[in-house]
Amino acid sequence: MIERSQNYLANILSTLCAEIGASLFLEPVFQRAGYIEFKNGKKVFFKGTSFDINGQGAAQIAKDKDYSARFLAMSGLQVPEGVLCFSPRFTEKMMRKNAEAARQLTSFSNAIAFAEQHGYPLIVKPNEGSEGDGVRRIVGVEDLCLHISKLFNEHERVLVQRQYDGSDYRVVVLDGNVISAYRRIPLNIVGDGTASVIDLMQAKAKEIKNSGRNPTLVLDQFAISEFLAVSGRSSTDIPGDGEVWPLLPNANLSMGGEIEDVTDVICPEFSEISAQAASALGLRYAGVDILCSGIHQFDPSYIVLEVNSAPGLNNFGRSGKRKNDKVVELYRVLIENLMKEQNYDEKQ
Ligand SMILES: Nc1ncnc2c1ncn2[C@@H]1O[C@H](COP(=O)(O)OP(=O)(O)O)[C@@H](O)[C@H]1O
Ligand SMILES: [Mg+2]
Repeated sequence: MIERSQNYLANILSTLCAEIGASLFLEPVFQRAGYIEFKNGKKVFFKGTSFDINGQGAAQIAKDKDYSARFLAMSGLQVPEGVLCFSPRFTEKMMRKNAEAARQLTSFSNAIAFAEQHGYPLIVKPNEGSEGDGVRRIVGVEDLCLHISKLFNEHERVLVQRQYDGSDYRVVVLDGNVISAYRRIPLNIVGDGTASVIDLMQAKAKEIKNSGRNPTLVLDQFAISEFLAVSGRSSTDIPGDGEVWPLLPNANLSMGGEIEDVTDVICPEFSEISAQAASALGLRYAGVDILCSGIHQFDPSYIVLEVNSAPGLNNFGRSGKRKNDKVVELYRVLIENLMKEQNYDEKQ
């Protein structure tokens, strides 16, 4: 049976710990952080989906999209073309500390120059964001300035990138091996020729909740309205029968995206690229995000969009029995690896 509890990961860890005679300790109030204590008394800690498996430096680089793209490119992988913009607040602060360094920081004007050079649509997002937060498709200079200013209220660094076509894949790698791969499809509605976007959206929100896939999901109405507007559509439009309308520019599962398991069909080149991406950032455990025309066959115009050092697998695991089994298997391998290392230390 698929676990429906809100605390998906804790349920899996507790079953796996029982299997190997380890104990699971969860901080009692939020139950999101804790440790696993092996039989020999050694502990490995976790918070959310971050485990004591990746080095801190490597995880910090992965969190920074601009930095990680530099490391990926240096290892020969294709990454998005884009420009990083520092907030005026950050630049001013830097000016007081190190004026020479501050003068090298790119800003708004670099974003506008990039847009003039590459044209639209562009993608604008926080450099250190996650779960699709603040990711927007931008179609004009006014839009560009508005969204960057908005993001600067909360973030010091904003990325402006070319928008790449293709499908969005997540490949989970552990110690150089692909453990699972899936395609992520942006939140969308399918028209019936009579219902409006707003009606279809409400039905979709219910469907996602009832599936147990993402029980706490609240559709981001504002981001959806913005995306509909830049796509030349509105919430009162009526999509034709069978027409699929994406509602967001990003395929994050946390924002209602859907999943297709492709673990069994990923081609050797993309398995290799994923392992190389994890290794380029020094990560043993990683979720590698690839945009390409299809994962079953090598696409020379692929890009590695980003690499996550703590990939969340709950939405994937919750979307079907086979996928849940895969997630359990992945955590089994991860915990066994952590356990082996603890025992190895003991013998030194
Ligand atoms: N340059 C881009 N071109 C096309 N789609 C993009 C681009 N950047 C982001 N996206 C879409 O937005 C999603 C979230 O972007 P990402 O950079 O992975 O940020 P986050 O850390 O919030 O997941 C991606 O999975 C993809 O669907
Ligand atoms: Mg992402």
